[in-house]
Amino acid sequence: MSSYLFASSPCSVSRFSLLLGSSLLFFGIKSSAPRLTRLRHTSKSWAHLCTRSSSKLFSALSSPPPAHDDVIMLGIETSCDDTAAAVVRGNGDILSQVVSSQADLLSRYGGVAPKMAEEAHSLVIDQVVQRALDDAKLTGNDLSAVAVTIGPGLSLCLRVGVQKARRLAGVFSLPIVGVHHMEAHALVARLIERNLQFPFLALLISGGHNLLILAHKLGHYLQLGTTIDDAIGEAYDKTARWLGLDMRKGGGPALEELALEGDANSINFSIPMRQHKDCNFSYAGLKTQVRLAIESRKISMENNPISLANLDDRRSQADIAASFQRVAVLHLEERCQRAIEWALKIEPSIKYLVLSGGVASNKYVRARLSHVVENNGLELVCPPPSLCTDNGVMVAWTGIEHFLLGRFDPPPPADEPEDAMFELRPRWPLGEEYSQGKSEARSLKRSRVFPSLASMIQGSVQN
Ligand code: KG4
Ligand code: ZN
Repeated sequence: MSSYLFASSPCSVSRFSLLLGSSLLFFGIKSSAPRLTRLRHTSKSWAHLCTRSSSKLFSALSSPPPAHDDVIMLGIETSCDDTAAAVVRGNGDILSQVVSSQADLLSRYGGVAPKMAEEAHSLVIDQVVQRALDDAKLTGNDLSAVAVTIGPGLSLCLRVGVQKARRLAGVFSLPIVGVHHMEAHALVARLIERNLQFPFLALLISGGHNLLILAHKLGHYLQLGTTIDDAIGEAYDKTARWLGLDMRKGGGPALEELALEGDANSINFSIPMRQHKDCNFSYAGLKTQVRLAIESRKISMENNPISLANLDDRRSQADIAASFQRVAVLHLEERCQRAIEWALKIEPSIKYLVLSGGVASNKYVRARLSHVVENNGLELVCPPPSLCTDNGVMVAWTGIEHFLLGRFDPPPPADEPEDAMFELRPRWPLGEEYSQGKSEARSLKRSRVFPSLASMIQGSVQN
């Protein structure tokens, strides 16, 4: 086992990483020694707190909400290919952060294979959670609650995290907060920027989602735009694979690096969906354009590592990478400009745009979007890269935000059987669609399993 020291994190705390075996990367963030306070709830109080019998997502506290400093939340994230856990205090102190990446598996098998991803999560989940508690110098006894991603994502993967959360919560009699993965990407910005008040606008860009969201208040979101086919992260990953890049660091980062060598204006890929005057996205067509460009240049594709390419081929590949990135991001810029105009008409008091999700860790994306945002008189809030890609901190923080409003589930029984049934939400919209924002180019992927988070919360408030 070897350890590496990193520069201090944006939270002005020291950060270190341990390489365990060949495929497990752990990142730890430590801050000041935690004050060991635990909120105690009697089992009697749980019984009458459920606000919705059909959905056991949230309960409501009858007593006043606890002080922020007293809350200590464990966050668990397993919705896709990273197993992550973190402990965060209610005042925003990050006490620990651990991520075990499946990048090796991804590079070997060319994408997330659900069964394999599930096995990889199962293999490390206990270790990751234990490590998060150890790094925070805490035990389950010190926690106020456990937050866990319950959707959207791959069912098999979500199940691993939720099972772990329930086991732990059962043993230590802790409430559970079920977290929406994309809400967590957005809300972690409020941990970074304490002035970030509702309402705000958010552009969330990841491997599975492209979302433009107007966040009115906690749990109340309006979806201005979404993707009608692929998300931008998927397009980065596919392009990187086709160009023979080393996927072990992730397709997006590898492509960002290669693009630095290329001429971004060398290929005129067309910008998606210009004829649709809305805020929706599409990346499937751009992927096809890239594939055709690669084929027409007869550049070696998949399974031909770029490290073996001759200089001319490498230059062509870099040109494709840079041109792809320019157009992929121009599409974001155009939709974002329109979303800002729409959002300011609906909520003129908006001052911030949050940029988050894995792709938001890209420097080119951040720079281009910051121009758009500043040109419109708004301020950009973009979490540091380690909080843009999937992480446990965002889940813990979102758990804290809801917990402080009394939205949580009672502790599961300590002796809950392994095969107990619980709800997962693999397809779960964050907000209701803005009527003006509905795309004429309808997606085939719109079948919804669950009502949106926003409508569930509004429903429970009305009840
Ligand atoms: O949010 P995230 O970590 O996981 C999902 O929820 O999907 O996002 C992962 C996506 C992947 O497609 C990955 O290639 C992309 O974010 N990504 C990047 C960069 N870092 C991660 N894309 C472009 N440039 C990057 N630097
Ligand atoms: Zn994500």
